[in-house]
Amino acid sequence: MKTNLTVETIRVALLYRGKFLVLQKDVNSKNPSAIEFPGGKIKQTNNKPSLLKDQKNAVITEVEEETKIDVKNLKIEKVEEYEIFFEVIKYNVKKQYKRLVHLFLINIPNREKITVKVNQTKNEKGESEDKHTDFKWISPDELIESCTKLTINQTTGERFYSLSRNSRRIKKLLQIINYSKPKKQNCMENEIRVNLASEDDWQDYKKMRLAAITSKDAKMFGFNLKKEMEMSEEDWRELSRGNKFVVLAWCGTESIGVGFANENAEKNYWWFRSGYVFDEYQRKGIGRRIFKSRLEEVKKRGGKKIRLGLNGCNDRSYNLAQSYGFKKICKWEQLKIYSFRNLISIFFYHIMELDL
Ligand SMILES: CC(C)(COP(=O)(O)OP(=O)(O)OC[C@H]1O[C@@H](n2cnc3c(N)ncnc32)[C@H](O)[C@@H]1OP(=O)(O)O)[C@@H](O)C(=O)NCCC(=O)NCCS
Repeated sequence: MKTNLTVETIRVALLYRGKFLVLQKDVNSKNPSAIEFPGGKIKQTNNKPSLLKDQKNAVITEVEEETKIDVKNLKIEKVEEYEIFFEVIKYNVKKQYKRLVHLFLINIPNREKITVKVNQTKNEKGESEDKHTDFKWISPDELIESCTKLTINQTTGERFYSLSRNSRRIKKLLQIINYSKPKKQNCMENEIRVNLASEDDWQDYKKMRLAAITSKDAKMFGFNLKKEMEMSEEDWRELSRGNKFVVLAWCGTESIGVGFANENAEKNYWWFRSGYVFDEYQRKGIGRRIFKSRLEEVKKRGGKKIRLGLNGCNDRSYNLAQSYGFKKICKWEQLKIYSFRNLISIFFYHIMELDL
């Protein structure tokens, strides 16, 4: 009788001086640019489910092959096992596969000297066996972020969780290492500061912009996402210079809201753009404070007219602008943007204007 053997794999969380080792898949792999813990298939004998000793042997072999770290004398601790399911389309036929993953933890003592080398193992054709291009050590916070926060994949331009699904079960792992989540700063409304950003705040502006365009409100912003991902430090700094400025809202040292304004040189009017407040801080008057602060700054700079462009369905921003006297200048325009999948999409928006 034919039995369907479940393919078993191991993944190894190597923890060293407080950080985990993750390997980055190359652009030709099935999951380009994703990161994952080292690991691979277990050699199963006689078509039987693996034993703990087979799994540990696989841990030693795979870690050596993929990172050149020798772990045979270190404590190899089993964390848990779980199944993952995935689909592969080959010759237009969709097939579903299952993998049983055994997750292990190796806590490498601080005193050890570690040198990581990836992409050293080649197959018979001389090609890379592991399809890894790079490696990095990431903190538990960064590990959590890699599987909870969507980012833009630099290879495909699509949104993705950078941690590969084979490594994304990290809850138990973090419990074992006694990770405790840093307390999120929580501000009372009167503790929130709103002020003009300096160009040295460019990283916070970048953080807020990227958060906005990958948030559930992404459709409110008509920007070329890939281009923003590729902007240099100088490009970001430039947005707080001359006839452009950024207003940021802060809770302690964490930026939580943003607004941008730039002057249209030829016609001597200003544009408000990129207003955004983190979900959990919305409806507390922060958007209004950012808006007001931009208005005051434009007045200070001698502005005579302000315009803003709104997605046709953006009632929140519409109400906010209207409450300061902005009027819709009944002109609908069609805007073409390149979306995550590089398709052209079209949406309508209207322009509102205020004479100062
Ligand atoms: C628009 C945005 C910045 C407002 O921020 P906020 O901090 O929640 O706004 P505030 O609490 O200061 O509210 C200011 C005004 O906005 C309007 N508003 C805010 N939330 C609203 C909602 N859910 N429904 C209707 N109007 C709303 C109201 O006019 C409100 O004034 P009020 O409280 O006196 O009624 C926020 O909703 C956001 O980030 N939205 C997603 C991104 C976006 O659309 N950006 C604009 C792109 S042009």
